[in-house]
Amino acid sequence: MLFRSWASAVESPWPDVASVADHVGVRHLVVTRHALVRQVLADPATYRPDNALDAVTPMPVTALRVLAGHRFRLPPTLANNSGASHPQIRAIVADALHPTRVAAQRPWLTALVRERVARLTATLDAGQPADLYADLAADLPLLVLARLVELPDAPVGAVKEFARAALELFWAPLDADRQLALAAEVGRFHSVLRDFAATGGGLAAELRAAGHPPDVVVGALFFLLVAGQETTSQFLTLLLHRLACEPAVRAGLRTGEVAVADVVEEGLRLEPPIVTWRRVATADGLLGGQPVPAGTSLVLWLARAGRDPAVVESPDEFRPGQRGSRRHLAFGAGAHRCVGDVLARMEAAVVVAEAAPLLDGVTVVRPPWCPDNLTFRMPDAFVVRRAPGSTGLTGS
Ligand code: HEM
Repeated sequence: MLFRSWASAVESPWPDVASVADHVGVRHLVVTRHALVRQVLADPATYRPDNALDAVTPMPVTALRVLAGHRFRLPPTLANNSGASHPQIRAIVADALHPTRVAAQRPWLTALVRERVARLTATLDAGQPADLYADLAADLPLLVLARLVELPDAPVGAVKEFARAALELFWAPLDADRQLALAAEVGRFHSVLRDFAATGGGLAAELRAAGHPPDVVVGALFFLLVAGQETTSQFLTLLLHRLACEPAVRAGLRTGEVAVADVVEEGLRLEPPIVTWRRVATADGLLGGQPVPAGTSLVLWLARAGRDPAVVESPDEFRPGQRGSRRHLAFGAGAHRCVGDVLARMEAAVVVAEAAPLLDGVTVVRPPWCPDNLTFRMPDAFVVRRAPGSTGLTGS
């Protein structure tokens, strides 16, 4: 969902374009239709990505001082970069995440997921609850990313804490105390990244060798850790939860009538971890008949675009392979389209193939809960238990 308060701010059904005020009184134009979202994403001259990482709750001086104390800076590098350096930085990151390099990680990831699934099966067989977020999905993307682009030698838990803190600091409605605590967390890790950016190998070294200054190297690593890692672990959790409620799809996977890749696409369409993404208008214009003054913040409702009846046959139903299923905008579109899409799809395909059988015969003890956030769904847990005496092959 968008900000929870927006659910009641606009009467359902939402218009194609709606002007809504956020928790600090700033107005945004929420774009809901697939064709209009695509139109905005395809026109980077009129709708720039410069505001993509702006904090939705302005930071108080106390939090800014904490960030400044850590010499925190986030120059435009990837998602928020409409400048001349974007294509080159993007090309270096895209090389590191090239499909052949991603494919090479698949056997290793499959073995790791199998090991985890075996442990979780034993837990469920013993009648114990199992948390598929904490014990399966939470750190997988980070472990794969670390093999693809060298990352600072920090404990997984610390990196996840930092990434979740960043998603909250920049995209959640917050009070000043919380902002201060989050700024301390984000600032601390930014210092770790700065040291690594100066000396680290892999992607950091590639960016340095291409002549990018230290701030840019830090900014690129910062964004990769936040967007490349947290998003995918969120998606894996949300997709597993959805599959737990879709016994017919699981049955199709078992018999081979449903393809894993189709399940992943339908999952991206219906359960995208990034619900919205922002652009800013550079000139006065019109969108869907609505005036858009220069400077307007546009909130592109990617999740809603995925359920547009003009594009998908049965928009609210999980039907892998249905007409329009693959036309979702979960990865954005155009010049800034996600460069990690092949990686995210590979990880999701491995998890669906290996872990879907775990869900047979389970009941959901604790569905994922997501805190209020403009953009990211940040599930905190997904706990299941197998009904006593269940073989695991029937039931929901
Ligand atoms: C299911 C998982 C993921 C989703 C839903 C997702 C979604 C997105 C979206 C919506 C954007 C903005 C696109 C736009 O402005 O048009 C984006 C950009 C980006 N994503 Fe992802 N992403 C995912 C995983 C990843 C992964 C695994 C990586 C890398 C390891 C990654 C790296 C990036 C980068 C570098 C950009 C900025 C691209 C640019 O500005 O040129 N993402 N992603």
